[in-house]
Amino acid sequence: MYYPFYRPRRMRETKLLRKMISETQLDVANLIYPLFVVHGDQVKNEISSMPGNYHMSVDMLVKEAREAASLGIPAILLFGIPEKKDEVGSEAYADDGIVQQAIQAIKNEVDNLVVITDVCLCEYTDHGHCGLITDGHIDNDATLPLLAQMALSHAEAGADMVAPSDMMDGRVCGIRDVLDKNGYTNIPIMSYAAKYASSFYGPFREAALSAPAFGDRRSHQMDPANALEALREVSMDIDEGADIVMVKPALSYLDIIYRIKQEYDFPVAAYNVSGEYSMVKAADRAGWIDGQKVMMEILLSIKRAGADIIITYFAKEAAKILKG
Ligand code: PBG
Repeated sequence: MYYPFYRPRRMRETKLLRKMISETQLDVANLIYPLFVVHGDQVKNEISSMPGNYHMSVDMLVKEAREAASLGIPAILLFGIPEKKDEVGSEAYADDGIVQQAIQAIKNEVDNLVVITDVCLCEYTDHGHCGLITDGHIDNDATLPLLAQMALSHAEAGADMVAPSDMMDGRVCGIRDVLDKNGYTNIPIMSYAAKYASSFYGPFREAALSAPAFGDRRSHQMDPANALEALREVSMDIDEGADIVMVKPALSYLDIIYRIKQEYDFPVAAYNVSGEYSMVKAADRAGWIDGQKVMMEILLSIKRAGADIIITYFAKEAAKILKG
């Protein structure tokens, strides 16, 4: 292939031609919309670090979920902010916990929506860590039963899928086992398999009020320097029973998404995280970029890298554009 016989520009001349040979299609059917639920009535407070995202009480959350479904968004991912936090994250697995209430309300009132729940203790512990603390360390094995109990309580409330984000070793098989023993053999697990210790989660920690009181998350989340380790994490989670494996964050980890998609024949999700979202919003507000166009380019790039599913705070905005 050489000039002048081959001219790549020939096929770029018109929109129709470009569309005809487009290799990647974004589809609203592959988006998951994360939402934050709080106690109270008629609460809808914007999260200042994530413009366009809100802390919502259950009544307002139901409206938002209905709107998402009407835009064709197939799924939401629920995060709860409890009223009280304690050492063992009790509200995470309480029958009347905030997420459990939200699941019930949405399942009762909204059709055609997959309700997925985040399974991790960090929003529920007073120290803000993802597991129990023993002698100043996050105690992996003592945390596993609580995560399984949390996942079970979500399933009992009516959740359609659970998504463990804690990065404790062995939690996928712990959750699968407890779900199966209680008759929830058909509830899929989307595991945060390759979750990095990332500074891109900054805005989320304000949203979930879950910044650790001491230390950081580097003893359980992955080192951004590692790629082969991500493949091992994914392989473990698949062996333990994960149905979807996730890479998080997305943008600085497109190579990881690509490698996982090449290596495994499992659905891959990518989490376009809070920092990735808020940077676009900030630059758009400053007039430095066209936020909508950058959003669509980012989502397309994540798909092109190999993600089947994208979890994104842009879901509603993107759905509107995709609807035309
Ligand atoms: C943990 C959890 C986090 C995110 C999703 N689940 C925060 C963390 O690990 O510190 C981050 C999501 C985002 O930044 O958008 N429950």
